[in-house]
Amino acid sequence: MRNYLAMEVEKILSEFPKSKDYLLEILHEIQNKNPNSYIPPEVVQKVAKHLNIKKAQVYGVIGYYSMFSDKPRGKYVIRICASPVCSMMGAENLIEYLEKKLNVKVGETTPDELFTLETSECLGNCAAAPAMMVNLDMYGNLTPGMVDNILKQYSQNK
Ligand code: FES
Repeated sequence: MRNYLAMEVEKILSEFPKSKDYLLEILHEIQNKNPNSYIPPEVVQKVAKHLNIKKAQVYGVIGYYSMFSDKPRGKYVIRICASPVCSMMGAENLIEYLEKKLNVKVGETTPDELFTLETSECLGNCAAAPAMMVNLDMYGNLTPGMVDNILKQYSQNK
């Protein structure tokens, strides 16, 4: 674990009560501080120790929620909604479009480590389906042209 991340983890842990009720919030904060947007094994160990729970419980939560990862991801994590409303509105085509455009499959990261492509359960933006998030930014009513512009914007912001 890089030093600054270790420091951030210490700081985040010190800000929460030692209760497993806070596990989700703690993992969110830690992952958001990690430029590779994932929870490394050393951090899992630290969090489990701090909350006095088993590592398996922490991995259970990381595995259950699609927004968490235990593997390094790109600087920008694209999460395109694959739930029914978005699927009906063309999300499947957009997923294929993104795979071709980025030259990766869902779950993979581009070789320059800029983008990771993932699918997600409903993002709560069904009224603007099809929807996707890039890190914490939400986009809706997507078309291939919009996807191009969005990717361009993030590529310029390396
Ligand atoms: S179904 Fe896609 S945002 Fe709800």
